[in-house]
Amino acid sequence: DCISSHRTLRLPGLIDTHVHVREPGQTHKEDFASCTAAALAGGVTIIGAMPNTHPPVVDKDSLTLAQKCARAGARCDYGLYLGASETNASTLPLLSPQSLALKMYLNTTFSTLQLPSMETWMKHFEKWPSSRPLCVHAEGETMAAVLLLADLYKRPVHVCHVARKEEISVIRAAKERGLPVTCEVCPHHLFLCNEDVVTIGTGRSEVRPVLCSRDDQQALWDNLDIIDCFATDHAPHAVSEKDSSSPPPGFPGLETMLSLLLTAVAEGRLTHQDIILRLHTNPRKIFGIREQPDTYVDVDIDEEWTIPSSLPHSKSKWTPFAGRRVVGRVTRVVLRGEIAYIDGKVLVEPGFGEDVMLQPAASPPSLPSPSSPPRTKHPSYVEPGSRSPRKQRV
Ligand code: DOR
Ligand code: ZN
Ligand code: ZN
Ligand code: ZN
Repeated sequence: DCISSHRTLRLPGLIDTHVHVREPGQTHKEDFASCTAAALAGGVTIIGAMPNTHPPVVDKDSLTLAQKCARAGARCDYGLYLGASETNASTLPLLSPQSLALKMYLNTTFSTLQLPSMETWMKHFEKWPSSRPLCVHAEGETMAAVLLLADLYKRPVHVCHVARKEEISVIRAAKERGLPVTCEVCPHHLFLCNEDVVTIGTGRSEVRPVLCSRDDQQALWDNLDIIDCFATDHAPHAVSEKDSSSPPPGFPGLETMLSLLLTAVAEGRLTHQDIILRLHTNPRKIFGIREQPDTYVDVDIDEEWTIPSSLPHSKSKWTPFAGRRVVGRVTRVVLRGEIAYIDGKVLVEPGFGEDVMLQPAASPPSLPSPSSPPRTKHPSYVEPGSRSPRKQRV
């Protein structure tokens, strides 16, 4: 191991718009302090916190509670989702300035927020401001129905965790015809398929969308050009729950995503610009998030390591990627001028994180153009051999 030949790559702070923090209500699975420590360890400086908590974030009181938990616990910056319910379509728009986006659960998953009626979907499509993102858990034919509503109501929609060939094919057709649709793909659908279930174990492999076929997995790579974002869908559950007779769906992912993607770069399947576009530039545009000043992530792109059976910071003490050889690791995260993470240690306390929606001058969302290069010049390479490229302002 020759550290002096290792190259450092500097990335902008990554934005993971799909994270299940579990606070309030299920802090044995995860909380803001542990989740945002995991985020920083993975190079993520902003998380979008999903609303399927206990209670779910569906009105003013539950939003106030979630804001209180986040303000006290978060070490990195965050935005909070609101969840669509059967009854809140007309009241949520009032809360939209305080939230990152609206989330609609349209298929069965780990949530009490599933909306059975298309009439409810229509109300939300009608009422939620078209200037704020509307994100859907919508699989298969449900996703196609959602694209019709986006067209009928002439408003953008963001499709979470696209996992199947048929889904990405319909999204391609919709984009080609000018529908205002954007989408995200998760690392576990890019790097795993149903053939991995035997290795991972049946209960632990439970996730929604499920791990699909190798063909589905390949289709995601074949359609990379129309994938706007990567997002973890970090869904921590306790190991005892995953190994029980009714395992809840979901994988932790914050501490492994970037190394998996950097390994794909090393294999020639992806470029660093592909990562920056989908984990910084496009999420910023789609969700209208302003640049974090003085914020960057240094990775050692030559460090090889084996993903262990669990990662240090998440409370979810397992990973579906255990045993994988990867190359590339976060060495340092500077967040708003502070060294937030260095060589395995999180240095910022709970409470350091800020709500990106409560900061001034959040930019209005816009549709990204995935194939065009970002305006800001990211990333920068640092001289081989120097692990501390510059004097840091801290
Ligand atoms: O696997 C999943 N887990 N999919 C979801 O949609 C929800 C998530 C969770 O909250 O555990
Ligand atoms: Zn989902
Ligand atoms: Zn999710
Ligand atoms: Zn930037």
